Amino acid sequence: MKKIILSILSLGLVISQFCNGQQLIKNENLDKKWWKEAIVYQIYPRSFKDNDGDGIGDLKGIISKLDYIKSLGVDVIWLNPIYGSPNDDNGYDVSDYKGIMKDFGTMDDFDALLKGLHDRGIKLVMDLVVNHSSDEHEWFRQSRSSRNSPYRNYYHWWNAEQGKPPYRYSLFDVNHDAWRYDSLTNAYYLHYFSRKQPDLNWENPKLRQEVYDIMKFWANKGIDGFRLDAFQFAAKDTTFPGFPKGFEKNFNLYYGVQGNLHGYLQEMNKEVLSKYNVMSVAEGAGNTNEDAHNMVDADRHELNMAYAFEAVDIAKKEGYSLIHLKEVFSKWDSTFSEKGWLSIFLANHDQARLVSRFGNDAQEFRESSSKMLTTFIMTMRGTPYYYNGDELGMTNAGFTKIEDYNDVATLNEYQHLKSIGGDLNKFLNQIQFSCRDNGRTPFQWNDKENAGFTTGKPWLQVNKNYKTINEEAQEKDANSVLNYFRKIVKFRKDNPLLTYGKYTLLDKNNPDAYSFTREMDGKKFLILLNFSAKLTTTNTGINFKNTTLLLGNLKKPSVDGTLKPYEAVIYQVN
Ligand code: GLC
Repeated sequence: MKKIILSILSLGLVISQFCNGQQLIKNENLDKKWWKEAIVYQIYPRSFKDNDGDGIGDLKGIISKLDYIKSLGVDVIWLNPIYGSPNDDNGYDVSDYKGIMKDFGTMDDFDALLKGLHDRGIKLVMDLVVNHSSDEHEWFRQSRSSRNSPYRNYYHWWNAEQGKPPYRYSLFDVNHDAWRYDSLTNAYYLHYFSRKQPDLNWENPKLRQEVYDIMKFWANKGIDGFRLDAFQFAAKDTTFPGFPKGFEKNFNLYYGVQGNLHGYLQEMNKEVLSKYNVMSVAEGAGNTNEDAHNMVDADRHELNMAYAFEAVDIAKKEGYSLIHLKEVFSKWDSTFSEKGWLSIFLANHDQARLVSRFGNDAQEFRESSSKMLTTFIMTMRGTPYYYNGDELGMTNAGFTKIEDYNDVATLNEYQHLKSIGGDLNKFLNQIQFSCRDNGRTPFQWNDKENAGFTTGKPWLQVNKNYKTINEEAQEKDANSVLNYFRKIVKFRKDNPLLTYGKYTLLDKNNPDAYSFTREMDGKKFLILLNFSAKLTTTNTGINFKNTTLLLGNLKKPSVDGTLKPYEAVIYQVN
C-alpha cells in the first residue's frame, strides 16, 4: 500500500514538472540573495574626501562622510584599490597586498572604516588586482633578480636567446608592446597594462595560493566581497603562440577568458569564496554571453556576477544609438533570465561621466537626464553599481591641455601618437569626451575652495562647475538630483520586483524612448524613459487608463506615453 501511495505521489511530481510537454525549470534567479538585492555605491578613494590636506582623498576622509553614504540608502561600498602602491595606475599596481597605501592612511584607519560601515549596516567590497602586480612588489623584485629565483615563475618571462617573443598588445604601454626587455636577466616580461604592471603567472600553483592567502587575510578582517580586476585576462597560453596580424583590434578575443580561467575560478571558490559570506564580481565577461554565463552560473561554483562592457562601450564617442543600447541590455538580460546574475552599470572610474556620455550635460538638461539615467539603472534586473558623484549629476571635466590629465593610459597614448606623428589635436578633442579622468575629478562637496574636497592642492583639478553642482546645495533642494537618487534607491528597495521581476522590452524600434515592464507575482511596473532632448511618444500597447503613476523625474509626469525631453516615469499596471 505504502509503495502504491509513493508511486502515485512521485508520478504526480513528474507530471507537475512537465507542462505542455516542456520540463519546468526552476528559475534560480528568484533565489533570494543579499548581493542580488544590494545597491553598490563605488567610491574612488583618491577623489572622494581628503582629510589630511595633501590633496589626495584618504580613508579618514571617507570615514568623515559615512553619514552621507548612509543617507544615500545604498547597501554596499566598492572601494577602488587602497593597497600599497607606487600609483603608476592609481592603485591598480599593487606593491603590498596586505598593507594600506600611505596616501590613504593606515590599517587602523581601514579597521575604523570597516567598523563604521558595518555599524551603519553597509557592506564593503574590495578591489582585488591580481592579473598583475606592481613591478615594485617584492615578488617582482625577486623574480627579475635571477632566472633561478624561486619567484621567477610568478610572472611571465621570455628568454632573449629564443629571439623576440610573439607580439602581444599592451593597453597602456607607450609603444603598445606588452613585452618589456629587462637586461638584468636578458629576458622579456609580459605586461598587458603598463610597464609597471607585470602580469602574474596564474599557471603557477604557488602564485595562486599566495592570492588565496591575500583574499583570506581580507575576508578574515570581515570584508564582504571582492571585485576581481581585469581577471578575465588572468589565464594565458604560456607557450605564447603567434596571434594573427591585427589581432589587437579585437584583443579581447585572444585575451579574454582563455585556457584554464574557469578552473582557477573554481579553485578560488573552493579555497576562499565558499568559506565566507562574501560576494564576488569579475570585471569583464569574456567574449560571448556563454563565457559570462559560465562565470556566474551558481551550479559551476565560480563567481556571483560579472560585469560586461558591451553596453557601456556603446557611448565611446559622442552620439550613440539607443536602439543598439536597448538590444544589448535586452540580450544580456535574456541570457541571465533564469540562471546567473548580472551587474547593471553605465559608469565607473574607467569611464567619463554618466550624464556627459549617456545623458546631456547642457544646463537645461543636466538634472533631468541625470535623473532619467539613474531611474534606468535602478529599474533594471541585476545588481546596480553606481559611481560616486553621479548622484550629484557631476559632469565631464572639460580639460583642454594634456598637462591637465593624470591617467597613465591617456598620457602614454599621447606620447605614442606624438612619436608616430599622429593628430594630437584630434586626440585632445576625443579625450575631452572620453578620458577616464573626467570621472575622477574631486567630489564636489560645497561651493568653497576646492569644492570642500581638500585644503591642499587637489591631485586632479576640481571641475569648474563646483559652485553650482555640489552636495551642500543639493541637500537644500528637495528636487535635486541627489534627493531624486535617494528617492529612487528607496523605491527599488521597497519593490523587490525591480530586483527579481521579469524584464520585457516594449516599443523596441523607438530611437528615443526606452520602454519596458518588470513583473513578478502578478504585479507589473511600466517604465518609460526618454533618452533624447526631443518630445517623443512611445507606443507600448498598454492602456494608460489601467495604470497608476508611481514616480517621475519631472514636475508634471506624463500620463499618456508622450514624454518630455529626458523624462522618466514609472507606473503600476493594474
Ligand atoms: C581595470 C581597472 C582599471 C585599471 C586596469 C588595470 O580595468 O578598472 O582602472 O587601469 O584594470 O588594472
